[in-house]
Amino acid sequence: MLVLRNISLFYHDVQALDAVNLIIKEGQWVAIVGANGAGKTSLVRTIAGIHTPKTGQILLNDQDITGKESHEICKLGIGHIAEGRQIFPTLTIQENLEVSSFAAGFSKIKTKQNLEEIYVEFPHLKERQKQLAGSLSGGEQQMLAIGRCLMAEPKLILCDEPSLGLSPLKVGELFQLLRKLHKRGITILLVEQNVEASLRYADYGYVLERGQIVLEGVAKDLLGNEAVKAAYLGG
Ligand SMILES: Nc1ncnc2c1ncn2[C@@H]1O[C@H](COP(=O)(O)OP(=O)(O)OP(=O)(O)O)[C@@H](O)[C@H]1O
Ligand SMILES: [Mg+2]
Repeated sequence: MLVLRNISLFYHDVQALDAVNLIIKEGQWVAIVGANGAGKTSLVRTIAGIHTPKTGQILLNDQDITGKESHEICKLGIGHIAEGRQIFPTLTIQENLEVSSFAAGFSKIKTKQNLEEIYVEFPHLKERQKQLAGSLSGGEQQMLAIGRCLMAEPKLILCDEPSLGLSPLKVGELFQLLRKLHKRGITILLVEQNVEASLRYADYGYVLERGQIVLEGVAKDLLGNEAVKAAYLGG
């Protein structure tokens, strides 16, 4: 579904990604794990069209999407749940959800239908639909960020550190939700510092260090890998 070939990214003279190669098959759940500053967000933002790589190619179902703008990427079925949630705090919950649907180019009628579906999935959001999104707790804001992404009907979701700052209970709920979406056929690219949880649910994993993929494999094998255990799972 998605192929990254030799992707390098620079912020002026700081190199954030170095010759990254990556493949995501349709229906797969792929995890990218790595420490602080490894380049995870840079990678996600490059796929999402926020950054333009200096070298390399990004292919979506064999179509070259390198250099496309983020709104074009969204319309091609790639959803982005950004690090830090990035909801619009001064808009209501309903407005946050609608914005995403309109950005995807959907009509008012379609937006209303999708809104009803999202409210079935997230009854808490329905109860508070007229409240400002900034009044939600961290866990609820994360659910809103996921709901907002789903409003655009993505086929592939890029999910950047969704568990960050959540209580263990909320992290559990979050992973159950991602599993449900995956079972429904949505392809997932999950980027996490929470190495244990993300490799437990993923099909395939990549380890990113200083902008380079240093290890890849079936997620369960990576969980048992001695180097991964030593570096990320407390030995
Ligand atoms: N806007 C920017 N300008 C300059 N350097 C940046 C910028 N954003 C990120 N970097 C640098 O690029 C490298 C990769 O950062 P990135 O945010 O992609 O890492 P990350 O793996 O997502 O980290 P974290 O786990 O903390 O979210 C780091 O060295 C970071 O300092
Ligand atoms: Mg990050």
